[in-house]
Parts: sequence; structure tokens; C-alpha cells
Amino acid sequence: MCGIAGFVGAGDSLRQAVASLKRLEYRGYDSAGVAYSTGDELRIARCPGKVADLEALIAALPAASGPAIAHTRWATHGRPSEANAHPHGDCTGQLAVVHNGIIENHQAIRQTLLSAGHRIQSETDTEVISHLIEDELVGRRGASGLVEAVRAATQRLHGSFAVAVLWSGAPDVIVAARRDSPLIVGLGDAGAFVASDVPALVGWADRLSALQDGDVALVRGRSVTIWDADGKEREASMMPLTMSREAAEKQGFAHFMLKEIHEQPRAVKETCRGRIGSDGEVALEGLGDAVLELLRSGNVHFVACGTAYHAALIGKRLWDQALRRHADCTVSSEFRYDRPLIDDRTLVVLVSQSGETADTVAAARYARQLGARTLAVVNCMGTSLERETDAALITRAGPEIGVASTKAYSAQVAAMGLLAGQAGWADAGQALSALPDAIEKVLDNEAAIKAIASDLATSNCFFFLGRGHDAAVAAEAALKLKEISYIHAEAYPAGEMKHGPLALVEPGVAVVGLCTRPSTHDKIASNLMEVRARDGRVVTVVSDGLPIPEAATDVIVVPSVSEYMSPIVTMVAMQLLAYYVALARGCSIDQPRNLAKSVTVE
Ligand code: F6R
Repeated sequence: MCGIAGFVGAGDSLRQAVASLKRLEYRGYDSAGVAYSTGDELRIARCPGKVADLEALIAALPAASGPAIAHTRWATHGRPSEANAHPHGDCTGQLAVVHNGIIENHQAIRQTLLSAGHRIQSETDTEVISHLIEDELVGRRGASGLVEAVRAATQRLHGSFAVAVLWSGAPDVIVAARRDSPLIVGLGDAGAFVASDVPALVGWADRLSALQDGDVALVRGRSVTIWDADGKEREASMMPLTMSREAAEKQGFAHFMLKEIHEQPRAVKETCRGRIGSDGEVALEGLGDAVLELLRSGNVHFVACGTAYHAALIGKRLWDQALRRHADCTVSSEFRYDRPLIDDRTLVVLVSQSGETADTVAAARYARQLGARTLAVVNCMGTSLERETDAALITRAGPEIGVASTKAYSAQVAAMGLLAGQAGWADAGQALSALPDAIEKVLDNEAAIKAIASDLATSNCFFFLGRGHDAAVAAEAALKLKEISYIHAEAYPAGEMKHGPLALVEPGVAVVGLCTRPSTHDKIASNLMEVRARDGRVVTVVSDGLPIPEAATDVIVVPSVSEYMSPIVTMVAMQLLAYYVALARGCSIDQPRNLAKSVTVE
């Protein structure tokens, strides 16, 4: 989604803000812009396209000594264009606003503003914010006037926002505010930063603070002052910035996605570190007695979106099959608009890499309203999801920059194993401890997977088939391929093919059969023969030790591990397959079209 990066301090703030913005490219966007203060006046440069286009646009401009705010826009209201790109100004040309989120009552505000004579130049929901602030600034002065005007204007907004504002009436500050959209402030030797995500600060700031809902922050070169939702000044409570420059950079890999695929042995090891005793028993700290008790004997309902949902499906399977207890699993956007069967004996487990996915955060609130206890399984720390839940199990995959989730998925599935272990799954310790070596073995097979992918890259239709846990993995494998290669891919429980989808199989259709489950191995082998008989091309992923299905034209052998944790091992192979298919097709792997890393709108 959209990205915000602002800087105020020593040196050329225009280029610093744009350099910080470049670190947020992974979030997905379609236009970019920056507003900066020359000391005398406020200027705006913006364009559809990439940050590189913005860099070209500002290349000849002199350095800016005043503050700067930069933005990448992922179009929601109005197509990608120069006029719709942020920052947006007001009628006076003295104000500039960048905004992440969605203003739900923007149409009503727009009408009021137009009737009052405001000239609104874009189709965006954002521009109403600048004009509201413009009105609120009448009669106000200086930095404190801007803080009051931003507070008053944002109080009239419905929906979600993270905003950063420049005003020539307070030429040495940035004012920022948020509700339901993440925003952080950071401090370093050269000055102060405002950003929607941590990578924008790495290498320049050494401490940061996450703004909370309703906060308004005044950011000066050496200080940050924060007022809470009630207007009371509160301490900025700065934490050390721990993300390393290596984590924010590719370190020789062609893409962040490939780097993150290779980081999975570590992601899983870190997620389990200190959580499995020498006796193999899982012991999770900091969840609180009520959550622990519900894990042992309450009802469990998993809720998540996208890849995190696919990881949650493995959680449900662990409950159903390993623990022999019923559990539910629902996508967040359905959960919150339904009437789930939930009460005070239910633990709702919300799984999210970013901890900022709007539907998942809202689902957490809804679950609490229904009386449930809530547990976040989350990769980023200090997020909205953590604040909205009773307890959190942090997956320690490290920062995930590629839009397509890889190491976060593995860490989430490992976390599902940890939760099941805490709930009584006796094999958890052993199953989890075997994973890092098994993942390494899949990575050792990269060249062979790459060769298969290069052969498959011309296919325009893929099916991923599996049974049992492999059916859940098939869903994630299909998602991975479609999001980065733009090839239509579907996942089916293998036995379902003959109930309809088999009609689509013809020469050129690729079918990937996931065959890691001994108990249904013969069954899936027959299902794949049905595909082969219709001239489909059959790639199989087979656990070491199981027979190679007769239908296979290509085989990827993966190490045999506990069937509940094999989704991690299989998915590493499927991530590599998707990556190399996308590479062969020349796709934009780290920033797939139309997608964003952190989906902070509904
Ligand atoms: C796919 C992908 C998305 C996310 C989904 C949830 O590769 O990354 O499907 O999994 O948007 O995001 P989080 O986990 O941040 O809640």
C-alpha cells in the first residue's frame, strides 16, 4: 500500500526523504511525490510511476534545508496520475499533505468544501484533508497552530489515516497523525523522521516510536512531541531501532523474495528459539493464564488473510488431526461480517505478518466484542494487532520486504506447531527441530527446481493438487505463483478434479501434484494419472521415501518430515518454483502489479 517518508534535520531533506521513500517501494505503489520547504516557500514534485521517475524529476533541483515529506501512492480513489499523486495542497499553496488509508466520508466533506468555495484539484479522498486543515488554520499560528489544526481536521474524518503535513507557517516542522494506519517517528544524528514503516529509517535513525491511534506528533530536527487522543502530551517512549541495514537490503540476491526464501531455516529456528525445552516440551512465555488455559481446553478459531490464512489452515489441521479437537479457520474479511460461533470459551488466533492488515485488526476487535480472548501470531512488533489482542506470539522471521510472503509463512506455520505443542501435541518439539535442516536440503535443490520452472514458464494455466495437509499447501502454492508470475493458478483437493476442473486439462496445462502424505499416496497417484491421460504436464513434489507417481513428467523430492510441518518444506520448493517461473517471464518479482505488502485498507 501507500508509503510515507518524511525528514527534518541537517542536510538535504528533499533527497533524504526520497531516499527513505525508496526503502518503501516494496509495499507496492503506482505514483510518487514529495513536498519540501526551501525555507521561503513550499514546493511539490510528483509523478505517476516509480520513485526512480521522481528522482529524475528532482535531479536538477537544489538541496532543500527545510523539512520534506514524500509518498508512494497505491491508487484507491482516482487512477494513477500526476494530479492524484500525493502530496496534495490546499487553496493557498502553503500546505502539503501525504496520507495513507481511506477517508470514508470524503464525498460529504468534498461537497461541503466545494460549497464553501474550495478548489479541489484531484479525485482523491486525501485532498479533502488539506482543505480541512486549511480552514482550521485560520487564526492559528506557528507549530502549535498546525498541531491544533491537524487535530481538529482529523477529528472530522471517518476511516483510516496516517498523515504527515508541511505548512509554510511553521517552516521547520512536520506534523503527523494517525488512526488505524501505521506511522512511526524516528530520531538519528542528522535529524528526525516520519515513516509508515521501519525500513525507511534504517541506517539513518537509531531510535523510533510507533504512534498510537489518535496521536498527533510534532516532529522537529532533534525532538518529537506527541499528544494522545485526548490532547494530553505523552512521552514519545523511543525504542532502539534494531532492523539491520542487511535486512533492509538485498545483500547480493537478485530479489528480496529470493533472499527471504533463503532465510527460512533461520526464520524457523528463531521462531522456535527458547520455546522448546531440552525434553522437547513446548513452553510459550508471556501468553497469560487465560490464553494458556483456552489453548489446552477451549475452542480455537483461527482468523487471517492471504498467505497467513493458509498458515492458519495448518493450525486448524493440527487441532483437528493431531490434537483431535475441533477448530475453525476463517478469512478475516468474512469473519468480521458474519456471526461466528464465539463466546468467552473461545480463543481467536489472529495470524499476520505485518500486524496491520485492516481486516485482521478489525476481526480482532470484533472477536473481543463477542467476548472471546484473542491471541496475535505476528511478525512485526509494536503493531496495531498486538495492541488489539490479549496476548501475542511473535514469529521471528525478521523483516519481510518482498511483497510475496515466504519466510513469514514458514515462521507462521512453525508458530502453529508451537501453539499445538503448548496445547498438547506431543511430537511438536521433534517435528519443529527437524525443520531447519530439511529446509536447507530443499534449498540445495534450487538448480533442479529452476530448470523445471524454466520449462513450465510458457504454461498459462496451473493446477496445484494435494490431499489432506497438501490441499492446504496447494492453496498457498497457487497463490504464490499467481501473485508474482500473473499466471492463472488454481488449487484443488486432488480428488475434486474429476468433479469439474478436469474439463480444463489439455496440452500446455501444468499440474503440480503435492505428494507428501503417505496415507493417500496411492489415491493422489491415480488422480494424477487422470490428468496425464488428458495430456496435462504433471510435476510431482514427493516426500523422500515415497514412490514416484507414475504420471510424473518431473519430480521434486523433498525431505520427509512430520506431516503437520511438511507444509513448510513443500512450500520452500513451491516458492522457488514460483520465483523462477516469474523470473523466466520477466515479472516484477518484489513488487507485483496491483499488490501491496501491507493491506491497510479493507
Ligand atoms: C501473499 C501475501 C498476502 C498476505 C496477506 C496478509 O504472498 O503476502 O496474501 O499474506 O495480505 O498479510 P499479513 O500477514 O500482513 O496480515
